[in-house]
Amino acid sequence: MGTVQVAPLDATLGAELSNVSLKDLDDASWRVVEDAFNTYGVIVAHDQYLSLDEQLAFGARFGELCRNDASRMPMRPDGETPDGGFFAPVVGNVDKDGKHHTDAEDPYIRSGIGNNEWHSDSSFQHLGAIASILAGVEVPEEDGHTEFADMRAAYDALPAETTERLAGLRAWHSVVYSRVTLGALDRDLPEDLTTLPGAEHSMVRRHPVTGRPSLVIGSHLAHIYGMDDAEAHRWVQDLIDQACQPPRVYSHKWREGDVVAWDNRSVLHRGRTYDYSQRRRLQHVRVAGEVEF
Ligand code: OGA
Ligand code: MN
Repeated sequence: MGTVQVAPLDATLGAELSNVSLKDLDDASWRVVEDAFNTYGVIVAHDQYLSLDEQLAFGARFGELCRNDASRMPMRPDGETPDGGFFAPVVGNVDKDGKHHTDAEDPYIRSGIGNNEWHSDSSFQHLGAIASILAGVEVPEEDGHTEFADMRAAYDALPAETTERLAGLRAWHSVVYSRVTLGALDRDLPEDLTTLPGAEHSMVRRHPVTGRPSLVIGSHLAHIYGMDDAEAHRWVQDLIDQACQPPRVYSHKWREGDVVAWDNRSVLHRGRTYDYSQRRRLQHVRVAGEVEF
């Protein structure tokens, strides 16, 4: 197929790959793809039409795939059970049995609304996730974009007093916290949010390959050690609002056959709403983290 081409997108992150077939990557092509992933944080390839097995095989090139039992999420109403298989949920309004959910109040749709807030996948786990990979199976004609924001460029743009304040701060991330605050899970929150299942991380991390520092924030962040919760939540929301602005944001309009992979170590993402009478089904594969942060 010749050499994979890498074209940076019009933002501080993201690159589009062309002249590439992700289902049969030779080692030289993989090195180009991996390098683009680490450098740009988000890679986009059109016309790939991967089967789930092909998507899992592509994911396995990044590292160990997440398994259901290690990626325990609040169950979706159609009962994705932790059975020890790979964590490969479908995302959108068409469930794994092909049923199309059209009502915004439908439990299936409600259970997915957490994806619409800026987050880093699996930040509520000790090692987080390296990569997430979405494939466009059925896509709405309009809207339903996935957006990505560059937490390296966001960190670089912070004033010195903020980077000084962030240095050394640790925070607790919990998916139960984010789901409850968004109304996707009906449960009382405890006084001490660190008693919720989750994981502790620093608020700044260095990318293990590029060495670039980035901000570790997002909707799963429940508590900052040493800070009052209300104040911490306001501050984190401010940081997210500032960080997720142009030129640090890429908004992906889905086409069938697309594959988008992003680096959860340096990028936040969120889904956007759409007309639920249109079908949206994206296939998700996730790669487990390997270093503490
Ligand atoms: C995800 C996610 C957003 C979207 O799959 O992890 O957050 O656009 N998806 O559906
Ligand atoms: Mn996500």
